[in-house]
Amino acid sequence: MKNLINKVFVITGAGNGVGRALTLELLQQGARVAALDISETFLKETERVAKPNQKNLKTYVLDITKDEEVFKIPDIIRKDFGQIDGLINNAGIIQPFVKVMQLHNKDIDRVIRVNFYGTLNMCRAFLPSLVSRPEANLVNISSMGGFTPVPGQAVYGASKAAVKLLTEALYAELKGTPVSVTVVFPGAIGTNITKNSGVDMNMSKADAEKMAKFQKTLSPEKAAKMIINLGIKQNRYRLLVGNDASMLDKISRLFPKFATNMIAKAMKNLLK
Ligand SMILES: NC(=O)c1ccc[n+]([C@@H]2O[C@H](COP(=O)([O-])OP(=O)(O)OC[C@H]3O[C@@H](n4cnc5c(N)ncnc54)[C@H](O)[C@@H]3O)[C@@H](O)[C@H]2O)c1
Repeated sequence: MKNLINKVFVITGAGNGVGRALTLELLQQGARVAALDISETFLKETERVAKPNQKNLKTYVLDITKDEEVFKIPDIIRKDFGQIDGLINNAGIIQPFVKVMQLHNKDIDRVIRVNFYGTLNMCRAFLPSLVSRPEANLVNISSMGGFTPVPGQAVYGASKAAVKLLTEALYAELKGTPVSVTVVFPGAIGTNITKNSGVDMNMSKADAEKMAKFQKTLSPEKAAKMIINLGIKQNRYRLLVGNDASMLDKISRLFPKFATNMIAKAMKNLLK
């Protein structure tokens, strides 16, 4: 979709990080945004920073794991905006930084519910609106953890791998329709995802410094610009966001075991 003026985008997880940056950038480029998040407080802050483009923004408190509410929201948004031209499934959470053996059922359930079922619910709820438009975009945010295993984030990675496959299959299923489908693999982005996911890193200061050195993060604003300018405006099939994601993509295709061992070595100190 080349021209974003007056187009209506629905964004999940728009109360923070990449979702908020996507909201601000789309508004800046003349689009209208239905911003969804589980947290009203986070959405209020998005509204505050969106001034003076606030007239093109409406916020909705929604937990994407609640099927019934998810299936009601497209009608509400269509009533408010008159049309829906794009959906960005961005909301996501990480898991506690522990090995699979130490994970609790409730943590596994929560990560899979938000990252996979939340994304799937939203796709199913909004696709009927999107296919009825002259042109539309569906963007699902996976992660570089969805193609390279990270010890301590195994279930998170599995949920993001599921988002990857779901999105690629949707691309194939929607060929010949007006809907362009993009799967996005961000590398490390400088957001509060750890705190927002309720995860305690339980890390020494030295380990935190080591990790920060290893993870050169991209700003959410730069990530949002790439997702909009390349993912949406150029209708990309897949988009790697950040040098870390691009590099790991290459290494893990050419030398999958080497890539797995490389990340395992870098993460060793985090997992006791
Ligand atoms: N930050 C990174 O380094 C990174 C790397 C790779 C992929 N990603 C992915 O990018 C996306 C955005 O991450 P972020 O770093 O901006 O996170 P963030 O924590 O800053 O923002 C996520 C937002 O999603 C909302 N949310 C959580 N559960 C929800 C639910 N059930 N219903 C509705 N909203 C919900 C949160 O309230 C929060 O506002 C996520 O899918 C994440 O997995 C992030």
